Formats: sequence, C-alpha cells, structure tokens
Amino acid sequence: MLERITRLSEEIADFQSADPAAIERFRIQVLGKKGAVNELFRAFKAVPKDQKKILGQRLNELRDKAREKLVTLQAALEAHAVDSPKIDDLTKPGIPVCLGSRHPISLVQNQIIRIFSRMGFGVAQGPEIEDDWHNFTALNLPAHHPARDMQDTFFIEKNPDRLLRTHTSSVQIRYMEQHEPPIRILAPGRVYRNETIAAHSHFQFHQVEGLYVDKGVSFADLKQTLQFFAKSLFGKSKIRLRPSYFPFTEPSAEVDVYWGLNSEADHRITKGTGWLEIMGCGMVDPNVLENTNIDPKTHSGFAFGMGIERIAMLRYQIDDIRLFFENDVRFLSQFASESQTPIPK
Ligand code: PHE
Repeated sequence: MLERITRLSEEIADFQSADPAAIERFRIQVLGKKGAVNELFRAFKAVPKDQKKILGQRLNELRDKAREKLVTLQAALEAHAVDSPKIDDLTKPGIPVCLGSRHPISLVQNQIIRIFSRMGFGVAQGPEIEDDWHNFTALNLPAHHPARDMQDTFFIEKNPDRLLRTHTSSVQIRYMEQHEPPIRILAPGRVYRNETIAAHSHFQFHQVEGLYVDKGVSFADLKQTLQFFAKSLFGKSKIRLRPSYFPFTEPSAEVDVYWGLNSEADHRITKGTGWLEIMGCGMVDPNVLENTNIDPKTHSGFAFGMGIERIAMLRYQIDDIRLFFENDVRFLSQFASESQTPIPK
C-alpha cells in the first residue's frame, strides 16, 4: 500500500496541463468518488492495526497534495483567461467612458469663493456638530433669547449642548477665538434647520458666510464689497440694503439686488418688484467681538451670510430646492459644461 501511495504522489507531482478538459479528467481519476485516493481509503479499512497510524497519515497527506495541485492548476487556468481576452473585432467602437460633472452647489460655492478671494478673503472650516457657545451664545444669543427661534435647531441626543449648526457663523467665532485681526474669511459649509421639506425650504442646505475684522472697518466697506460681489456673480451692479435684525450684527441689513423686469420670469421671481433678496449682513456686534477677546474700542468688522441653494436657484433658474439633494443624473449632467466656465467679469 505504501508503494501505491508513493507512486500516486509522484504522478500527482508530475501532472501538468493547461487544458481544462485534461484537468477535469485528472480530478475525476484522482479525487473523484471512484478515484484513486478514495480507492486507497477503502483499502485502508483492511490494513492491520499496527500499520494504521503511519499509513493513515500518508494517505491524508496524499489527499491534501492532490487537492492543492488541483487548486493550483485551476488558478493558473483562470489567470490565463484574464490575461488574454478574446479580441474578435478590432473595428468595434470602444466602451464609452462617462465623465462626471460638478454638483451645482459646488459650482456656485467655488464661484463665490473665487470672487471674494480677489478681495483677499481666505476660507475657514469648522465642525457641523457644534456646541451652544459657538452656534448661539458667543453670537450674542444667550440662553432663552427669543431670536433663537429664528432658526429651528436639531439637538443631538437630548443634550442641549450638542447640536447641528444652524449657520456657519459658528466658524467665524472659532476663527476669531484663534486669530488676531486683521481677519478676512469666508465660511462655506452645510447647515441644518428643523424645517419642513418643500420647494423652497429644506432641513439641510449650504451657506457661505463672510467676516472682515480690522481697525476702522466701516459700513461703506461692507456696501462696496457686496456691490463688487453682486456685479461679479450676477452681472448686476445695483443693490440696496434694507434695515433688518440679526442678534450678532448691529446695524443689520438684508441685501437686495436689482434683477430688472425685462421678462416674464423676472416678474415672477421678483414678484413684480424687480428686486431680489440675496443675503443678510451687518456690522459685527461689539458683544460678539468681546466674546472672542477682540477689543471693540480699537476694532470693528462686518459680516454677511447667504444660502448657496438660493443663489444657485437664481443663477440657474431652478424652482425646487429638493433637486439639489436627489442626485438625479438627468439633473446633474446639465451642469457638465459649467464645470469649466470662468466667473463672469
Ligand atoms: N447667520 C445668518 C443666517 O444664517 C446670516 C448672517 C450672517 C446675517 C452674518 C448677518 C451677518 O441667517
């Protein structure tokens, strides 16, 4: 029996083939139900007791060796199949490569960043999960301040000190805490408010907020900056500032841009007035400067904030905010050519 095992072991070691049919024959002959290995196992039952241990060991080794060999042969076959795909017709057209495009929100965000970077603004980032101090208190919104209701807030796990930021003004606080003026930053990013999803509101959207703090910054600087922005992004140079209220700025204003009343669409989106609201702004409240250890006697600043979805809807004449979050390729692919478009002068 030992001799048969040795012979079969040699045969297995010597076997070579790249032919699938021959490999299958080898498998049946050696490892099949009625194959050589099983035959030896059957004969093993009649082996005298004192030889069982050593022969049993050899037999198991033989079976393992055969299985290993089979696996090696089959792997070589598969590798070969991958290496050499069948080329049957060289004139066939290739498989088309689908190019993606930038999301309209990214496009508009980048345009805004580029416009302000021409005036020396850099970009700052902060966390989307905020604490009460950075999202509210430091922004002159102490606990129980009624203006907290202006932005419906998502709190995390019933812990009132962990919330999803309702605006990126929180990034401005973080930046002022860590940097000395002059400060000139934009804070783009996603924000969350507990609002019903509809054509013009969503529980998540994107903002770009801006902050400029230095010695002698005035309201005239703010107005000039926003005028340059409106001209650069929309090609419209007429803006107006309407008095408004934000807890973190004083005085505060809403910015409207004069859109015109030249077409049916102009009448519709401006509700017949010709004017469109694009953002909120104001002079940084002295309390906010104090909260971040900047002396309001020597320094002043302005801040502004806008919703990117709103700006994108105006720019591309989109009338439903939900489209931005559905990721429907039929919608997104319409912006493919925009990815390369430079911002208008
Ligand atoms: N944080 C305000 C908002 O989210 C926008 C704003 C920023 C207004 C800065 C004034 C100054 O509505």
